[in-house]
Amino acid sequence: MKSNFVKEIYEKTAEDYDRWVIPCKKCQYMMLIESLDLKGDEIGLDVGCGPGELTRTLAQRLDTGKVIGLDISANMVELAAEKTEKRGINNVEFVNANYKERDYKDKFDVCVSSYLFHWLEDPRVFLRWVRRALQDQGKLGVISPSPEWYREVQKAYHHVLDKYDVDKREIIGKKVYQQKDIEKFFENEGFLIRSFNEFSFKEDTSIETCLRRINAKSGQSYFRDIPENLKEEARESFMEELKNHTKKLVTTESGYIVIATRM
Ligand SMILES: C[S@@+](CC[C@H](N)C(=O)[O-])C[C@H]1O[C@@H](n2cnc3c(N)ncnc32)[C@H](O)[C@@H]1O
Repeated sequence: MKSNFVKEIYEKTAEDYDRWVIPCKKCQYMMLIESLDLKGDEIGLDVGCGPGELTRTLAQRLDTGKVIGLDISANMVELAAEKTEKRGINNVEFVNANYKERDYKDKFDVCVSSYLFHWLEDPRVFLRWVRRALQDQGKLGVISPSPEWYREVQKAYHHVLDKYDVDKREIIGKKVYQQKDIEKFFENEGFLIRSFNEFSFKEDTSIETCLRRINAKSGQSYFRDIPENLKEEARESFMEELKNHTKKLVTTESGYIVIATRM
């Protein structure tokens, strides 16, 4: 998945992402920060920070430390900076860039990244980059979706793709990894995994709300292989399939919290 494609999605959805998605992630951020066992004087980095909620949660945990939030989307960074200023948090700096374009070396004590993993072209490249940016024994905390997330919705989506004879793909992101793949990536790129925890939410959410969140996360890119003249029909078919596949409870936020040390 090329970075420009991802950037275009989040330039469009920044406001909606902040409104519809971020509230569902706040307790995940708390779990992540808690598991990092921080002293409070660390220099931190949040890669793919989006509207900056995790960046701020980390910054508020660091009494004397500070955090850089990095994101490829200018609209995300602008929103993040605005919200941070409004909240009076002043130990954060936001940078608008593709992470690959920044060359940090041995700079950070801690790095976090939430819901970026499934958008990466190659997680190994990302982990190599993070390893260079971290100090020796620096900590890395990642939140990544698991194959369980949106299980019922994904099933409905795949039924629609089948109808149009289109190859199956993730409804959000490039690839959602299983625990064993993530463990291998981390270990092969010089990280020692300290903890690996799974979480999963089932919600009694309306189809409309569920779709609103998926659209904020994906910019509706999931219909991109369907011909333009059939898109509207595919959307209607998707709504029908959702009604059939989603019973009362839908698996929504579901993923892994991985804490590792740079070796
Ligand atoms: C799914 S959002 C996650 C936002 C936030 N971290 C969260 O927990 O919800 C992914 C974010 O990563 C950013 N992103 C994607 N590729 C990137 C890259 N190569 N460098 C920096 N940011 C990137 C996107 O712009 C987007 O804001």
